[in-house]
Amino acid sequence: MTGMSVSEAIDSRMSCRAFLPTPVPGALIRELLEAAKRAPSGGNVQPWHVYAVAGEPLEQLRAIIRAKLPEQPMGEGSEYNMYPPNMTEPYRSRRFKCGEDLYATIRIARENRAGRLQQFARNFDFFGAPAALFFAIDRQMGADQWSDVGMFMQSIMLLARERGLHTCAQEAWSLWYRTLGEFLAFPPELMLFCGLAIGYRDESAPINRLRTDRAPLREFASFRGF
Ligand SMILES: Cc1cc2nc3c(=O)[nH]c(=O)nc-3n(C[C@H](O)[C@H](O)[C@H](O)COP(=O)(O)O)c2cc1C
Repeated sequence: MTGMSVSEAIDSRMSCRAFLPTPVPGALIRELLEAAKRAPSGGNVQPWHVYAVAGEPLEQLRAIIRAKLPEQPMGEGSEYNMYPPNMTEPYRSRRFKCGEDLYATIRIARENRAGRLQQFARNFDFFGAPAALFFAIDRQMGADQWSDVGMFMQSIMLLARERGLHTCAQEAWSLWYRTLGEFLAFPPELMLFCGLAIGYRDESAPINRLRTDRAPLREFASFRGF
């Protein structure tokens, strides 16, 4: 473990989209989950369910999706709205810019739809990561418990940094919720929220050079009485 501070972990976390094949030991994943389970949740209900996959099963999953992708490049549809339909400003522009900045790192122009689709499909290879986590939540849960799962995920992502690992949260996996639910044998009450690729960053990959924008404080914070 590094002597990384929380601030350093937060600042150095980024969405890694090219991993080395170096395996991540199961013991390390268990350690991350053990530590992350201290994440808070309303009423301490701990609404998270995690499925960790590596090795042969991960290869099987890759192969299943690879076989389906040519017919269904956008997957099976999602069980939830990833973004609100007709998302308003400023959110819409932020999302657009993030996509443009990402594709710029690998020089894929806006007109190159095939190139963009191909890059999107890299999600389903976990960007080369040797391990993945899938987060599921009981269908009875609402927005507040979904936020709890988000905090749990962020805890994992920061703990991963402390151990020299990088991650990429992958909502894109919700597009394969049927196939995944079957593959991971979800009980009917669970629904897939998100995937998370985890491993060691490929330092030479241009796509990992993206440093995404953040809005200045005045756009999202207000202060009274200071
Ligand atoms: C819940 C969640 C789901 C995400 N899903 C994806 C995804 O499916 N594919 C992807 O490449 N990035 C995904 N991201 C990464 C975001 O695009 C990224 O966090 C954002 O652009 C900010 O960049 P940064 O993480 O590098 O700071 C996801 C992030 C979160 C928090």
